[in-house]
Amino acid sequence: MKVLVTGGAGYIGSVAVEELLGAGHEVVVLDNLYQGSAKTLLPDVSFVQGDLADATAVEQAFASNPGIEAVMHFASYTLVGESMKKPELYLRGNLVTGINLMEVAVRHGARRFILSSTANLFGIPGKNPIDESEPIEPGSPYGESKQWLERALAWYERIHGLRYGALRYFNAAGATARLGEHHEPETHIIPLVLSVALGKREKFTIYGDDYPTPDGTCIRDYIHVVDLARAHILTLEALDSGSRTYNLGNGRGYSNLELVETARKVTGHPIPSEMGPRRPGDPAVLVASSDRIRSELGWKPQFSDLETIVGSAWDWHRSHPNGYEG
Ligand SMILES: NC(=O)c1ccc[n+]([C@@H]2O[C@H](COP(=O)([O-])OP(=O)(O)OC[C@H]3O[C@@H](n4cnc5c(N)ncnc54)[C@H](O)[C@@H]3O)[C@@H](O)[C@H]2O)c1
Repeated sequence: MKVLVTGGAGYIGSVAVEELLGAGHEVVVLDNLYQGSAKTLLPDVSFVQGDLADATAVEQAFASNPGIEAVMHFASYTLVGESMKKPELYLRGNLVTGINLMEVAVRHGARRFILSSTANLFGIPGKNPIDESEPIEPGSPYGESKQWLERALAWYERIHGLRYGALRYFNAAGATARLGEHHEPETHIIPLVLSVALGKREKFTIYGDDYPTPDGTCIRDYIHVVDLARAHILTLEALDSGSRTYNLGNGRGYSNLELVETARKVTGHPIPSEMGPRRPGDPAVLVASSDRIRSELGWKPQFSDLETIVGSAWDWHRSHPNGYEG
């Protein structure tokens, strides 16, 4: 299949591109390099530098690459905290870019669409593990924008026959030998913890130790980015038999303290840490039930152990101490 990957120069998108190429698909990447890096792109990839907010640029990406059959849409504003300060960026930005893409995709005959959605759809969930029947109560304008895009896709399916996969990731983590997580600014816990071991930060601050969890710190479900990418390919290949919505995680939660302890073990560095106040809106526990994708598509994560996941991230950060810069 010929697949347009938006945000294909970013963290998760670049790994999806690698997996798509490995599975024999043809890839066109559309990215404005607001985050991510052109250095992630292999020579086999056709790259269009453009902004999804610009409908002409999206049109151009399709027109100059005829025969695109599917879209994987990773490009997005992605920060929960930023969305609580600048809701317009998320509510307008993520919706406009997503709708531009759906509209042009349909016009050019692409009939399959995979959306990067999020666990933030569930806000403070009523139960864990969280399956797809959990009520949607987004925890931020970021989550709200993803819900709107899921709903828009349901309308595009009804009206235009666009088959879609809505994949709600929990915490994407880990790296391949070539591709890893580098954001400016960095807000994700694993790169932040590892930056202490690299000597780039003095200590790591844990947000709150008074949650109703065994050690008082928040519990999250980490999913290796390669397992995530493979879930995209399985979903893409299954869309002919219907649209799909899946929660994606390992089904096992680790507390922030357990994560820091694992990073100490993996790196051999003491990683000094301190306790800070809670971050507003952080749920105590977020763990996915991925039973649906396991049973419907036979998806099975290969990297479920936290030490392996953190170890892969550490290998990448050690070999890329400045990310993709030099
Ligand atoms: N990282 C996680 O744990 C996580 C969890 C849940 C959902 N997600 C979702 O997964 C997707 C990918 O996340 P990521 O961590 O790889 O992000 P990322 O920032 O590394 O990658 C996003 C890419 O999209 C590009 N981009 C952003 N806006 C664009 C625009 N208007 N036009 C063209 N390109 C644009 C950026 O330059 C970047 O290369 C996002 O949609 C995010 O909301 C991520």
